[in-house]
Amino acid sequence: MSAQDAAKLSFTIDGKEVKAEPGQTILQAAALAGIYIPHLCAMKGLSPWGSCRVCTVLVNGKPQAACTMPVAEGMIVENDTAELKDLRSSIVEMLFVEGNHFCMFCEKSGNCELQAMGYRLGMLQPRHDYMFPTRQVDASHPDVMLDHNRCILCARCIRASKELDGKNVFQFIHRGAHKRIGVDAAGGAGGTNLAVTDKAAEACPVGCIVKKRVGFAVPIGQRLYDTKPIGSHIEAGRAAKE
Ligand code: FES
Repeated sequence: MSAQDAAKLSFTIDGKEVKAEPGQTILQAAALAGIYIPHLCAMKGLSPWGSCRVCTVLVNGKPQAACTMPVAEGMIVENDTAELKDLRSSIVEMLFVEGNHFCMFCEKSGNCELQAMGYRLGMLQPRHDYMFPTRQVDASHPDVMLDHNRCILCARCIRASKELDGKNVFQFIHRGAHKRIGVDAAGGAGGTNLAVTDKAAEACPVGCIVKKRVGFAVPIGQRLYDTKPIGSHIEAGRAAKE
């Protein structure tokens, strides 16, 4: 065993032994081991956030967010169980009914992580009532549009703007059911220093932040999740090693 391997921690996910570096989260270690843990607010390159709870796993029998929970020697993680799938599905269903997600009209369809998660989890009819909230569309920016109907409050744009772009374009405003993504200009996104090339303009998992004039460049049916389920790129890594 090399000194590098000796410094690694060992734990299990669904009975499979996984090696990890100290300080890694369960989500990171699982991905490197080719094990997909569903997640939405987590994004590679951004600090862990832990808000959506789609990544909930059982750690030694207790629910934890895999994206924020650091690995520990000997921990027993359960990921692929019927109960967790139902919990994740319930969360995704809540996200669908809480906003206005009309996939058939959305430019992000086929590339949308929420839509893809619904498919991956086998979501059919949400068990909650649709709320059909009244939300705004901010088209004031010359190159980027914000459709708040589709926002799932994952904060990826907030973190990307701050951590990757060195700006502070987005932040949360209001509280509770009225919580929204706001921008740092009174007149909307058009008054900010957001650039279409910013990482924040790429970080949205849904169709809330979309670029103008590039709609349907890739036809529906040929997009990322039209051909492969979300998470399959992670699982392909495991397949390659086995
Ligand atoms: Fe872990 Fe959202 S991905 S809480």
